[in-house]
Amino acid sequence: MALRPSNRKRNAWAVSLMDVHPSDRVLEVGFGPGIAVREIARKAIRGQVVGIDRSAVMRAQAARRNASAIRAGCVTLMVASIDDPPAFDRAFDRILAVNNMGMWSEPALRLKELAGLLRGGGLLAIVSQPRCPGATADTTAAAASQIVEALTAAGLVAIRVETLDLKPPVACVIGKASDRCLLVDQPASTK
Ligand SMILES: C[S@@+](CC[C@H](N)C(=O)[O-])C[C@H]1O[C@@H](n2cnc3c(N)ncnc32)[C@H](O)[C@@H]1O
Repeated sequence: MALRPSNRKRNAWAVSLMDVHPSDRVLEVGFGPGIAVREIARKAIRGQVVGIDRSAVMRAQAARRNASAIRAGCVTLMVASIDDPPAFDRAFDRILAVNNMGMWSEPALRLKELAGLLRGGGLLAIVSQPRCPGATADTTAAAASQIVEALTAAGLVAIRVETLDLKPPVACVIGKASDRCLLVDQPASTK
């Protein structure tokens, strides 16, 4: 998966849209081979990258790719499903999922839960490149519309859609948490 140029391009592009700051705390759901994790860690140099993926095989691949950042304590990769996630003790500034929302059970509910993990003003980005046979730009546009609807229902605001011109195109839908979106208690000392 990691060796495909389109996969590297899609992940690097998605991270470039997320406006990651050096001290940000970022969650990636379904990190796969860990390409986006590596890109995010290069930006969040004083922050923290947390990843969950339900596959131990993918965790092993991603851990090899991000070995030095894990050793330095900047990256934590866990085997866990978003359908039964670990407890996170602090909120996130950015949350990303690339090409896996369609694999979650009850994605609408999961998006609401993820929105609740964001700090006020934090961003949630969902990326989709339809993989079904015969997928076209129309397939991508339809997928993007569904994601916009789900992020709106999850309470996110200022939702925008960006498109990367691959075959088929990739959509990245980004929504922002309003201040009242925060459900996770934050210690007064954080940020
Ligand atoms: C198509 S791969 C994409 C991997 C990576 N995001 C990328 O673009 O290179 C989907 C990944 O999502 C993970 N995944 C699927 N369902 C998941 C779930 N419910 N919770 C966590 N990870 C999940 C899979 O194990 C796999 O690594």
